[in-house]
Amino acid sequence: MTMLLALESSCDETACAIVKDGKEILSNIVSSQINVHTQYGGVVPEVASRIHVENISTVITEAMKQANVTMDDIDAITFTQGPGLIGSLHVGVQAAKTLAWQFHKPLVPVNHMTGHIYANRFALDHDLQFPLLALVISGGHSQLVWMETEYDFKVIGETRDDAIGEAYDKVSRVLGTGYPGGPVIDKMAKNGKEHYHLPTPKVDSPYDFSFSGLKTAVLQLIQREEKAGNPIIKEDVAYAFQETALGLMVSKTMNAVKNLQPKMVVTAGGVAANSRLRAMLEEEMKKFPSIELSQPPIKYCTDNASMIGATGYVAYKNGIRGGFDVSADPSLPMPGEE
Ligand code: KG4
Ligand code: ZN
Repeated sequence: MTMLLALESSCDETACAIVKDGKEILSNIVSSQINVHTQYGGVVPEVASRIHVENISTVITEAMKQANVTMDDIDAITFTQGPGLIGSLHVGVQAAKTLAWQFHKPLVPVNHMTGHIYANRFALDHDLQFPLLALVISGGHSQLVWMETEYDFKVIGETRDDAIGEAYDKVSRVLGTGYPGGPVIDKMAKNGKEHYHLPTPKVDSPYDFSFSGLKTAVLQLIQREEKAGNPIIKEDVAYAFQETALGLMVSKTMNAVKNLQPKMVVTAGGVAANSRLRAMLEEEMKKFPSIELSQPPIKYCTDNASMIGATGYVAYKNGIRGGFDVSADPSLPMPGEE
């Protein structure tokens, strides 16, 4: 039995979880700063780091209390080394090092994005199946990741410009519907209809995405309508944006499914919480009944520390360790990648 204390602080959630054998969550404490950042229309890095500092000790204490464990029960400290906001990451990294030093525990640094992928472990009653294709979509990343085997990651496709979550947040800002944009647009689009037309972004390679042109097209559409004196039907804008953005992402994902024939397809990251995306993928994957599709419950899609415990467990078993010189890396590549 392996018990890990996991820490996550890469963006605007301060989180600690106690996870047994990478699949059993004994506690999962997430302190979200969303209410604070909403006032500014997005995450303010300086503010985020300061709130992490204020909250991290409480979050750790609470996670241990809820799991009913002491430091004697913990085999290792695993934490997000990157990618993310540098100031935010530092807080989790320093907390992890302090605990490791004080209680003589090994340190297991992990990549945040691998955590999103391994969050699927909680949605399944069996291990991940390889080869595996992961669609990792968050506020900072949009990637198609190929895993030939356990803890082996190859980015086969990614966005050329903005991450999909970033595009959701920006479109929401121009519509005046606030931050974070994903959940609002998801909800609004349900009441929208086909009314506006947006051009599908053109990306020549089979697995890459691009969202910045689409974001600009939304902005131009709104300006055009305003100039013509037409009222903006926000629900219809949300609908048009979402159908176009998700349509592109699903078509790229299906290219990879067809060409590479994985055993399993998983989604990961905050945008994987999107209800329309979930429905679209389920529909498309019906054409491939022998390939399993896993879309984790929404609470495991957004940032949390139990996902770090899930990937940290596999890293720990693979002998991955960090020394006291390990430091936060805002653009940490996937393990095995450059
Ligand atoms: O993975 P995550 O919690 O943090 C990062 O690592 O970035 O993802 C946050 C992103 C935000 O851009 C947010 O707008 C988006 O996930 N998001 C959604 C939905 N829920 C959250 N996007 C689309 N539909 C949703 N339902
Ligand atoms: Zn994330």
